[in-house]
Amino acid sequence: MQPIAIPYFAFRDFPAGINREVEQVVVQALQSNQFILGEEVKAFEEEFAAATQSAAAIGVGNGYDALVVALKAADIGAGDEVIVPANTFIATVNAVVQIGAIPVLVEPDRHTYNITAANAAVVLTEKTKAMIPVHLYGHACQMDGLLELAKAHDLILIEDFAQAQGAQYRGQVVGSFGHVSATSFYPTKNLGALGDGGALVTSDPELAAFARMYRNYGQEQKYHNKVVGINSRLDTLQAAVLRVKLRYLTQLNKERQRLAQIYLQALQGIGDLILPTTAEGCTHVYHIFNVRTQHRDALQLYLSEQGIQTAIHYPVSVHLQEAYTYLGYKRGSFPVTEELADTSLSLPLFPGMTEAEQQAVIVSIQTFFERHA
Ligand SMILES: Cc1ncc(COP(=O)(O)O)c(C=O)c1O
Repeated sequence: MQPIAIPYFAFRDFPAGINREVEQVVVQALQSNQFILGEEVKAFEEEFAAATQSAAAIGVGNGYDALVVALKAADIGAGDEVIVPANTFIATVNAVVQIGAIPVLVEPDRHTYNITAANAAVVLTEKTKAMIPVHLYGHACQMDGLLELAKAHDLILIEDFAQAQGAQYRGQVVGSFGHVSATSFYPTKNLGALGDGGALVTSDPELAAFARMYRNYGQEQKYHNKVVGINSRLDTLQAAVLRVKLRYLTQLNKERQRLAQIYLQALQGIGDLILPTTAEGCTHVYHIFNVRTQHRDALQLYLSEQGIQTAIHYPVSVHLQEAYTYLGYKRGSFPVTEELADTSLSLPLFPGMTEAEQQAVIVSIQTFFERHA
């Protein structure tokens, strides 16, 4: 096995000079003597709310907490059923369980990998209280149908846009469709911090006020607790870094899209590869560049032998995780999801990836299929 020559993800100075800007605000944050919440967090919240076409943003400790606080703010709890995609990162489902509700999984569409209103409609019951579409891999969900379904059945809509900051559906940015929406600033995300971070956004003032209290022990003001809250506050340092990166988010996403277009053209028609599509009305910001092949494991091994690091999102579907056997699903319950787990491979794609790196990935994939498929 070769040492890693081409990483799955790396922090590069893209656009040139961003690293210096980040370093400067890190030093300023250290000197400010403010470490948690404060003016920098407030400023970031205002800027992120504007970027998300929402009235308010509330910074929290990570994306998982953003989902938990969003669910709590929307008054979802014990006995409520919440529709979630079967193919998502575990956090979406864990958050539902954390607040005592019941996750009800639905198959994604086999082409977009996102949930659709038609698939969600099948699992509706009188206990269904909310729905959490996930803009998976950076590809916006087709929101029209989901919004109609939510309206028709009086469901709370919570978008999980952890993987899709800046993606749009019909010109409207994701995160702004839901009653309340949640995102993550995990370092590798399209808008990433230098550690954990997350936020929820909403245009409902009551939800925003609750979330602000709930993330900080339920305090309305210091040592005056209105509800039993949690501690999940955004660090001042992370907010300072995120303010810099937010200014470049469009540029960073454009670079991801440019790199994705190169892959899409170069890998078209090779072997049995299935490449990502962009659905009508949607944009894709390629948090993850997912390809699919029946030879996934062999391809991953071959690439790693060439020093190319890849990832799998996600190797074990939520319903087949040991933690979720209690939900009663079985192998075969979600054939599309299971096929995604068995065939998906995520290729290296990150702002600042060089042409030589990307060409090496492309050539290695071509060579693999010439030899193996
Ligand atoms: C779809 C999705 N939801 C939620 C999360 C949770 O975010 P975090 O890792 O910041 O808790 C992530 C990412 O990690 C994610 O990809």
